[in-house]
Amino acid sequence: MAGTRTLSKYWMLTNDFTQDPYPILEYVRRESPVRELSMPGGDRVWVVTRYDDAKDALADPRLSRDIHVHYELMSKRTGRPMTPPPEEANHLANLEPPRHTPLRRAISFAFTPRRAEALRPRVEEIADELLDRLAATPRPDLITGYADPLPVITIAELMGVPADAWPDFLRWSAALRTYSPTDGSGVLDRSIQELSTYMSELIERKGREPGDDLLSALIHADPERRLTGTEILSTGFALMTGGNDTTASLLGGVMAALLTHPAERSQLLAEPGRWGKSMDELIRYVGPISNALQRVTTEPVEIGGVTIPAGEVVVISVMSTNRDTDQFPDHPDRLDLDRHKPAHLSFGFGIHYCSGAHLAKVITEIGSRRLFERFPAVSLAVAPAELRYEQNVVVRPLKELPVRLR
Ligand code: HEM
Repeated sequence: MAGTRTLSKYWMLTNDFTQDPYPILEYVRRESPVRELSMPGGDRVWVVTRYDDAKDALADPRLSRDIHVHYELMSKRTGRPMTPPPEEANHLANLEPPRHTPLRRAISFAFTPRRAEALRPRVEEIADELLDRLAATPRPDLITGYADPLPVITIAELMGVPADAWPDFLRWSAALRTYSPTDGSGVLDRSIQELSTYMSELIERKGREPGDDLLSALIHADPERRLTGTEILSTGFALMTGGNDTTASLLGGVMAALLTHPAERSQLLAEPGRWGKSMDELIRYVGPISNALQRVTTEPVEIGGVTIPAGEVVVISVMSTNRDTDQFPDHPDRLDLDRHKPAHLSFGFGIHYCSGAHLAKVITEIGSRRLFERFPAVSLAVAPAELRYEQNVVVRPLKELPVRLR
């Protein structure tokens, strides 16, 4: 039982945790809500599990997301100097003020909820095409055939990437997804190089011939909001790396939740107007983000009564906060579509709050709604207990979601 167990020092890295993290997180929240975790190489990180502590930590400027601070720490720990690649070093998700501020202003101006809403008809067309293809396969898997490609193609469309390049985008995204530090095949480096070359050419072309897309809006912004070429390229990477796997993890999780909650599924299908209102509860319940969000302390910081020294890695477990009874007192382990405005932290909090939150909701709503509208009898092809999650430090994707469509 979680209440009496002694947790291993690698507690968050075990397969038990990957498959069913919530009883372990409940125990940690109660017993030692800011808890150490050992990494296989011997380093330690600090895990913050309570909602209030997490919210404070996300708003605290002494906890840095700056990729240079993270690389400096890794260099110090390994004794090998390391610098981040330019694609990763120049976008808002990996920087703090003052560099974060103009990048955030530019993207907030160009990537509005209105732009995300305008994509609705395209998302629906792309979803339907993918579903047609799935219906023609003998053993349809909603992860590889649907949840994975739908965000990739939608984000490519958002950036104004022409359809003939979508197969390359799917290939590059798959390479980014299967990245492993021990993989010596060079597939990741090659994919980043190809993607970078493609995006640089696309940015140049849109400089000459703007379209009605996000990249063109960033390139042709007013001078006070204009980014450099490197910053625009890096922002393109941020949209792909920040949006693809996260949305795939959420969409897969929402479809699985509704396949196993027939009453909630019927409610949503009977009243399509409820999808929008139910989305935050679905996100809270599914928890698409796993062992993230990561920060490094730039000076000693007290969190939840524990003083964390400077130069330490802190993991803010938003997955844990989603089930914290102090914040969600009414059966947080239950999917309750009537829960009043659940203020989950799955999109973060503070200055790094997700820029793509609205688009993620649009993709997830349309993706799941079209599945259940097109195939009202769709059902799991395995027992719910057989569903397995992949181990991943940022997101929580299902390995497979095999279904019978009819
Ligand atoms: C379910 C889907 C998604 C989830 C759960 C999610 C979650 C998050 C979270 C938690 C953060 C804050 C990270 C931190 O504070 O460490 C974030 C930031 C960000 N997300 Fe998302 N995201 C999703 C989809 C998207 C999409 C679709 C896009 C764009 C197409 C996107 C773009 C970004 C960007 C650019 C940032 C950085 C914002 C900043 O640093 O100012 N995300 N996201």
